[in-house]
Amino acid sequence: MNNTLEKYFSLKDKVVLLTGACGGIGSELAKGLAGAGGTVAIADIAVEKGEALVKEMEGEGHKAFYLDISKMDSIKKCVDEVLEAFGRVDVLVNCAGINKREGFLDVEESTYDRMMNINLKGMFFITQEVVKRSMMKTGGKIINIGSYNTTSMLGGCSVYGATKSAVYALTRSMCIEWAKFNIQANCLAPGHILTPLTTVTWENPSRAEYLRQRISAGRPGTPEELVGITIMLTSHASDYVSGALFDVDGGALAGGQPWQYDTKY
Ligand SMILES: NC(=O)c1ccc[n+]([C@@H]2O[C@H](COP(=O)([O-])OP(=O)(O)OC[C@H]3O[C@@H](n4cnc5c(N)ncnc54)[C@H](O)[C@@H]3O)[C@@H](O)[C@H]2O)c1
Repeated sequence: MNNTLEKYFSLKDKVVLLTGACGGIGSELAKGLAGAGGTVAIADIAVEKGEALVKEMEGEGHKAFYLDISKMDSIKKCVDEVLEAFGRVDVLVNCAGINKREGFLDVEESTYDRMMNINLKGMFFITQEVVKRSMMKTGGKIINIGSYNTTSMLGGCSVYGATKSAVYALTRSMCIEWAKFNIQANCLAPGHILTPLTTVTWENPSRAEYLRQRISAGRPGTPEELVGITIMLTSHASDYVSGALFDVDGGALAGGQPWQYDTKY
């Protein structure tokens, strides 16, 4: 890294706690954040995948931790273990999330509770735990992973969309309440990214065509396409950026594919 890149974007000596780190998006973020110099605590319910992931990451010192973010005792235990291993958390990336696509009228209470507990309640309380026990003393960066559904909506995503809109609301609370601790919190909202979470959608011909029409780029994004902005939002480059929503969606919210219009080109 040359001096300018090092000064603004290096995560050297930064301890990063990344939830949902073993998923399609999380595992690319883990590799990217490690590549930028960070020491990454991989936190996921799929801890054996986490141990394999650690071996693929650049640099030393990364470690996998078991986390069931839907359980308060697991959140506390995971943060205990991370603090014991690394002493502090400089960066928290809240990436753990699930979706179950079904109509508003079909959703049962257990599905509602599960999505709320993982996508929202767990993210709320792990952040509270990390800030109280570490980040309020040293400052830091928080990235909350939102979604296209933070702003817009797809059929069969009512509960998921509600959690992801709320993730951005919580991001604004974090921004205004914790600026005094030198903490910056932002919401990164991926558009339609091809991962295990969305394979079911992209393998469905009518839904895949529906989505392609609504993405200016005409294709799904890749997890790698979220890495650069994540490094920016976790590094000094974003010291005056807080409370903001960043849509990385190939132009989906901008309007997708244009209709037929007169043009010489
Ligand atoms: N893929 C997309 O197109 C897309 C778009 C917008 C937002 N997102 C969001 O990005 C994040 C990652 O999505 P992804 O596509 O990588 O999904 P994924 O299913 O590949 O990964 C999700 C990860 O979360 C972990 N997880 C699930 N339940 C957990 C729990 N109780 N405790 C701890 N970890 C748990 C899983 O083990 C998995 O590693 C999610 O918050 C998702 O809502 C994804």
